[in-house]
Amino acid sequence: SSKEDQTVLDANNWLMKLYHHLLRNTKEGKEGYAYLIERGFTDEIIDRFQLGYAPNSKDFVVRFLEKKGFHPQAMVKAGLLSVNDHGEYSDRFRGRVIFPIRNHLGKTVAFGGRAIFDQEPKYLNSPETELFQKGKLLYNFDLARSAIRKKGSVILFEGYVDVIAANQAGVENGIGTLGTSITEQQAKLIRRYVDQAIVCYDGDRPGIEASLKAAKLLMKTGCQVKMARLPDGMDPDDYIKAYGAERFQNEVIGASDTYVAFIMRHLRKEFNLNLEGDRITYVEKVLKEVATVDRAIEREHYLQELANEFELSMDTLKDEVAKLSKRQG
Ligand code: CTP
Ligand code: MN
Ligand code: MN
Ligand code: MN
Ligand code: MN
Repeated sequence: SSKEDQTVLDANNWLMKLYHHLLRNTKEGKEGYAYLIERGFTDEIIDRFQLGYAPNSKDFVVRFLEKKGFHPQAMVKAGLLSVNDHGEYSDRFRGRVIFPIRNHLGKTVAFGGRAIFDQEPKYLNSPETELFQKGKLLYNFDLARSAIRKKGSVILFEGYVDVIAANQAGVENGIGTLGTSITEQQAKLIRRYVDQAIVCYDGDRPGIEASLKAAKLLMKTGCQVKMARLPDGMDPDDYIKAYGAERFQNEVIGASDTYVAFIMRHLRKEFNLNLEGDRITYVEKVLKEVATVDRAIEREHYLQELANEFELSMDTLKDEVAKLSKRQG
């Protein structure tokens, strides 16, 4: 019911404030604060995103929420506490830097915690609850909304760390999925606001694979999609720390590729294009992607590239694409 929802929102809000206060002002939070500063985050950014610290304690939050009058059982259901077989309550997040996860209205509905010692897993999020469904929420959408409108585009990151690092680097229209690739629901939500999306997932294999999936889903909703250009193995946060804000804006976001150019760039690493057999397979794989491109001019552009590089006739390539398009319906 909405009264229960309000209680959960209140608890989340109290907890966000507690975690942030601990990080900013107390001895308990010192290691968390030092961790964020070490990673290059500024006080201004820590405050803007209300980053916090969950102390390495079994029951710090248990006692806090109890004192505020929340029922522990309700707090377990809200994903804020854990309970064991003996009915003993304990803190869910321990010894972690905390990232409040806000919904589109700016209400904190969950937390993400980054381990700062060697705990597993590295990232722990709140469990799904009625108010927090990962596949429906876009991280930072509330703060980014006006920049998204103004620019007419969104930049899509893997998660909160990259969104925040990009924000500190002056990129304000960034939003994040939470470690999973985008869902159809999220893609539709994005489409309601913009014509263009730039996918800026990690430059590692899982990131590249998730980028392709995200691009396809976004294109299916009618979004125009561009792919950011990250060097192999780097993620947006790594890049910004290594090369700075300006190069990130100009050489990663500003120099985004089309979807097919992105595929060509990554696919060619898997083949030895000096070998006849590899060349043919590569061209076939690219053609399959070209066949999915709606705009004739764009298709022609890629075919011309292939024709030049592999000394093939445009007629042959066009025939092939026509066949493939028909097959894909
Ligand atoms: N993420 C998540 N849940 C997970 C894993 C990841 O929500 N189980 C989100 C987090 O927001 C994280 C982002 O996905 O910031 C990227 O994850 P990943 O690339 O695996 O993190 P790293 O870049 O390796 O983390 P770090 O830079 O902190 O070492
Ligand atoms: Mn990643
Ligand atoms: Mn990463
Ligand atoms: Mn890492
Ligand atoms: Mn990272």
